[in-house]
Amino acid sequence: MSSLEEQVERELHFLQGRWLQDIPLDRTVLLCVLVLLTAVVLATSLSIWRFFSSKKHPPMLPTIPLVGGMVKFAADPIGLMSTGHKLCGDVFSVRLLHRKFTFLIGPEVSGHFFRAPEKEVSQKEVYQFNVPTFGPGVVFDVDYPVRMEQFRFLVDGLKQVKLRSYVADMVREAEAHFAKWGVEGVIDLKKDLADLIIATASRTLLGREAREQMFEKVSDLLHDLDQGMLPISFFFPYLPIPAHKKRDEANKELRRLFSRVITNRRAANISENDLLQTFIEATYKSSGRHLTDGEITGLLIAALFAGQHTSSVTSLWVSAHLCSEPKWLARVVEEQKRIIAEHGAALNFDVLSKMDDLHLVIKETLRLHPPLMMLMRYVHSDFTVTTAEGTSYVIPKGHVIVTSPYYAHRLERIYRDPLSFDPERFAPGREEDKVGGAFSYIAFGGGRHGCLGENFGYMQIKAIWSILIRNFELELVSSFPGSDFRSFVVGPTGSCAFRYKRRATPLA
Ligand code: HEM
Repeated sequence: MSSLEEQVERELHFLQGRWLQDIPLDRTVLLCVLVLLTAVVLATSLSIWRFFSSKKHPPMLPTIPLVGGMVKFAADPIGLMSTGHKLCGDVFSVRLLHRKFTFLIGPEVSGHFFRAPEKEVSQKEVYQFNVPTFGPGVVFDVDYPVRMEQFRFLVDGLKQVKLRSYVADMVREAEAHFAKWGVEGVIDLKKDLADLIIATASRTLLGREAREQMFEKVSDLLHDLDQGMLPISFFFPYLPIPAHKKRDEANKELRRLFSRVITNRRAANISENDLLQTFIEATYKSSGRHLTDGEITGLLIAALFAGQHTSSVTSLWVSAHLCSEPKWLARVVEEQKRIIAEHGAALNFDVLSKMDDLHLVIKETLRLHPPLMMLMRYVHSDFTVTTAEGTSYVIPKGHVIVTSPYYAHRLERIYRDPLSFDPERFAPGREEDKVGGAFSYIAFGGGRHGCLGENFGYMQIKAIWSILIRNFELELVSSFPGSDFRSFVVGPTGSCAFRYKRRATPLA
């Protein structure tokens, strides 16, 4: 028999399960050695293949057993990111309680995060903590196709033709608000601007009734919803604590109040120009049915949550930066004068769109102080990222991936002198965010789930700031505020005192 035939014979015996009986003891020992050797060779080849193909999992930041990096993360999330980044580079993992989080820092490694289809990378699992706040049947409580239909209603309600009329309301609210300021004084702008933003958002999104007939009540209920969104809610949204109980009661009460408003509008055939009206008239393409009162209320709460604090803290940071940067304050004032000379004193959508310097200031403020410091997704299937240095990592299914606007906006390889306030970096000729490539600037996210309210936010902040600076001189009294990273929407810490003085005559 040739050696080949012998081998075939042996294989056949192997398959028939008879091979052990045929092999004498010393040959069994030899076989065991061979099997062991084969295993060692295979394992070594696998490691060599992994090494050369660089297909490895991200480095894991060492943490305390059981709780993982949770203690550090809760106390100082940016500190944790900074440690991870310094030790491991742009991609690293950390265990937070029972979950593994992988941080992807910078545009080179965050493309899949923003662009991947929902079946590969999704929001629902990580943004579940919003469900009790928005209530059942909307956004993260429904399947993706329904959520997309609901966001389509929101897109309809925020399109330019609607935005034009909202701007008129924003201007009216801001003028009425600043008319109540005295001739001069010191004011905590944090509280004051938050009040103004809730008034404009109520008028334009929640509707006339919420603004004119039940403003105090609705504001209190929204406050209870706010207070029920704690860091612990992210991990345990239904933990039976007093703040969650109040949150749930507030949601129920808001649904009751808005149900009454919706019934009245329908009964009296009233049509208003607000987001509420868009939702009342909307129908699902898939079923042809109208939204229930509960869905309408839930979507209004979601829109308000997405847009209220984000705009409120941004207008405050803009004020703090402008009052600390005399050159830019003077430039913004000059721009207002120029616009008034060219278009008159009236403020509308077109006029606000022409305020390029103020736009640059807001954009730069959002680079340094993005209200959402971390964005998250859940990974459904493994994918690979490659860092700027060319190292590839496989991000495993089951990880939560995190990208950070705050961190990405401070990368020296993208932004020149990144800690300095320099709105010119976005002006034609430099455009550092474009030079850096897609997802270099992510204050409004990007890709599949980019912000739907970006234009609304810009218009609101521009309207407020134009009216403020046309009528008052402003000076920051407190020291420049730090960031409160313990809150979901990162605003300045403590109160923010500003001295104001009414101009003898408004800017002209
Ligand atoms: C300065 C103001 C604002 C900032 C900085 C901001 C920021 C963001 C960011 C970073 C995201 C992406 C979240 C993610 O990828 O996980 C987002 C999404 C979103 N924003 Fe805004 N936002 C602002 C104002 C608004 C306003 C005024 C509204 C509505 C009236 C709004 C509605 C939304 C909605 C509906 C989404 C979800 C889009 C989706 O998942 O497809 N935002 N926003």
